[in-house]
Amino acid sequence: MLELKKVYHYYGKAKALEEINLTVEDNSLDAVIGPNGAGKTTLLRAISGLEEIDRGRIIFNGERIDELEAHEIAGRGIAHCPERRRLFYDMTVMENIQLGAFTLKDKAKYSKLLDFVFEIFPRLHERMKQRAGTLSGGEQQMLAIARSLMANPKLLLLDEPSLGLAPKVKSRIFEAILQIKQEGTTTLLVEQDAVLAMAVADTIYVLEDGKIEMSGTREELEKEPRIKRVYLGI
Ligand SMILES: Nc1ncnc2c1ncn2[C@@H]1O[C@H](COP(=O)(O)OP(=O)(O)OP(=O)(O)O)[C@@H](O)[C@H]1O
Ligand SMILES: [Mg+2]
Repeated sequence: MLELKKVYHYYGKAKALEEINLTVEDNSLDAVIGPNGAGKTTLLRAISGLEEIDRGRIIFNGERIDELEAHEIAGRGIAHCPERRRLFYDMTVMENIQLGAFTLKDKAKYSKLLDFVFEIFPRLHERMKQRAGTLSGGEQQMLAIARSLMANPKLLLLDEPSLGLAPKVKSRIFEAILQIKQEGTTTLLVEQDAVLAMAVADTIYVLEDGKIEMSGTREELEKEPRIKRVYLGI
């Protein structure tokens, strides 16, 4: 579904992404893990067209998208759930959800999506009329994911869904991510919590200092002494 080929990105002279090769298959849930400043957010922003890449290609469903505008990429079916949620805090939960679906014309599809997001996040249903700014951190993250899902994406990009959340709430969010996978939405997740990310992902990419240092399944990566030490603390 998605392929990055030798992608480079610079901020001025500073290299943020270096020769990134990455493939996301249809219906998979893949994860990019790595420390602060590794380039994880930059990678997702490059895919969704919020950063222009300096070299390489990004191909989505057979079509080159790295020269398209962000809104065109969104129109192809890529939804980006950004770091730190970026909700409309003065609007209600329901209004935020509806905004996610603003390009969706199909009324029946809209109802189905709404049922699905309320099924995975019943908390949002209970709080439909509450202002987004008054939600807890975990609820805000649920709302950010729900809003992205309402665009009916083919590919969902999730930037650090567990950021700043308590362990129990993190687990709740990751259960929802698995439900999203089961429902058939391909997902590329970026996460600092390597233990959680590795528990759910089909393929894991280890991004360090702008480069993919290693990739593989959880079983493969768990055999690597350095992964154990640095990311799994064992
Ligand atoms: N707009 C920008 N201008 C200049 N440098 C930037 C910009 N955005 C990010 N960078 C730099 O690029 C590098 C990668 O940043 P990025 O935000 O992609 O990392 P990250 O892996 O998402 O980190 P975190 O886990 O802290 O979110 C960092 O060194 C950062 O300082
Ligand atoms: Mg980031």
